[in-house]
Amino acid sequence: MPVLDGDRIVAALRGAFTHDAGREELLRLAASRIRAAGAPYTSVYLYMLHGEELILEAFDGRETDHTVIPVGRGVCGTAVATGEDQNIADVAAVGNYLACNTFTRSELVVLIRRGPLILGQIDVDSDQLDPFPPEEQAEVKKVADALAVLL
Ligand code: SME
Repeated sequence: MPVLDGDRIVAALRGAFTHDAGREELLRLAASRIRAAGAPYTSVYLYMLHGEELILEAFDGRETDHTVIPVGRGVCGTAVATGEDQNIADVAAVGNYLACNTFTRSELVVLIRRGPLILGQIDVDSDQLDPFPPEEQAEVKKVADALAVLL
């Protein structure tokens, strides 16, 4: 069983949307609900694409200095440049990783896509090694897909 219950978070997002929650509130809600699942979800960052830059619009967990990431840089920028979600089992093993702190061992980036458009991404940091099997990643994708519709 995955740790994250994506359907529950999607229901919460839809509920907030019905009650007129705006973009900022929806992004904050997504970040806090995902992180509330607990380990392996240590910190959650919502980076949204503005031209050729990813801008940190909401997060829950550890603060990061990386509030603006150019497309193509780091794991986050690579996801946009390649159009592929990134599941990095061990951040020490990749050369393009932008470190936010010394505790993070792994990272999952799931793109928020509306048709052919990339709107942004959900970026999860974990203090555990290789904690996101495909069924766990699929739960994060449910949240990303809901955001693509609601934002
Ligand atoms: N590690 C990311 C940078 C963002 S922080 O994890 C919040 C990267 O390599 O793109």
